[in-house]
Amino acid sequence: MYNQPFRKMENNKVVQRIYSKIEEIPTLSPLLQKIVGLIESRKADAHDVTEVISHDPSLTSKVLKVANSAYYGFPKKIDSLDRAVVLLGFNMIRSLAMSIGFIKTFSSGKKSGRFSRERLWIHNLAVATVIKELAMKYGRQDESESLFITGLLHDIGKMVLDQFFTEEYQQALDEAGCLESASVCDAENRFFGMDHGEVGKILLKRWNFPAAICSLVAMDHKTDVPEGVNAADVAMLHIADILTKEAGMGVSESITPSEIRKADLDALGISGNEIEDLRAFLSEAKESIYEFYGTVR
Ligand SMILES: [Fe+2]
Ligand SMILES: [Fe+2]
Repeated sequence: MYNQPFRKMENNKVVQRIYSKIEEIPTLSPLLQKIVGLIESRKADAHDVTEVISHDPSLTSKVLKVANSAYYGFPKKIDSLDRAVVLLGFNMIRSLAMSIGFIKTFSSGKKSGRFSRERLWIHNLAVATVIKELAMKYGRQDESESLFITGLLHDIGKMVLDQFFTEEYQQALDEAGCLESASVCDAENRFFGMDHGEVGKILLKRWNFPAAICSLVAMDHKTDVPEGVNAADVAMLHIADILTKEAGMGVSESITPSEIRKADLDALGISGNEIEDLRAFLSEAKESIYEFYGTVR
């Protein structure tokens, strides 16, 4: 069956296959479901976050380890979850707990072997870090943690295709001839009727992520911003993705990242100089991103 190229199937049948497969993907662990539920709940507060995390001793200890790492650069030792919530804020602790949970859940499983999960998670963490910095600088402070989560999960569709459509994805990537470029999305579209951004959106919807995060993940490699999606957020995702690839934190080492689009700079109202500042920011954060991953893997 796998020798039969899927692009020969009728497109809607192919798309239907993705939907049915995603239905089969196990739901998140009860703990991760609770953490995701905390994003949606406007009433969630520091106490709710501590309550959910503290029920899991291994998560609690990892949260504290990362909270004490160079990534957050806190001068004094943070020795309890309550303290971490006070010092870093409950939104930040919530996205930290979510990062730990997702990295743990999606680090194993069947793989095509075409790219390493480690590289993909480091890429995701780097995009999350840069998009959050952009949000803080360019008027989206209130959304900065939600944008961090978008960055963290923006390429989760790749993991779904890699893990649940292993042979076909291998074929698609071989046909694209590389791991990251427009041709990967073209190959995904030919084989699956959609690209990994859209696959990610379907999965995150199923897991009850807020609509804004789902829609933004679908825009990972798209430029026509639909109504209801914030164009500045899309621009931030595109820019963060390119900057991390430039910094050698893409899924593959040997890639030539695309140029940052003028339309994305315009959507944020930023200049080339500001992009230089972001490059410097990422180069400084790089080591601590590796440390973050090393601590939670
Ligand atoms: Fe992507
Ligand atoms: Fe990416």
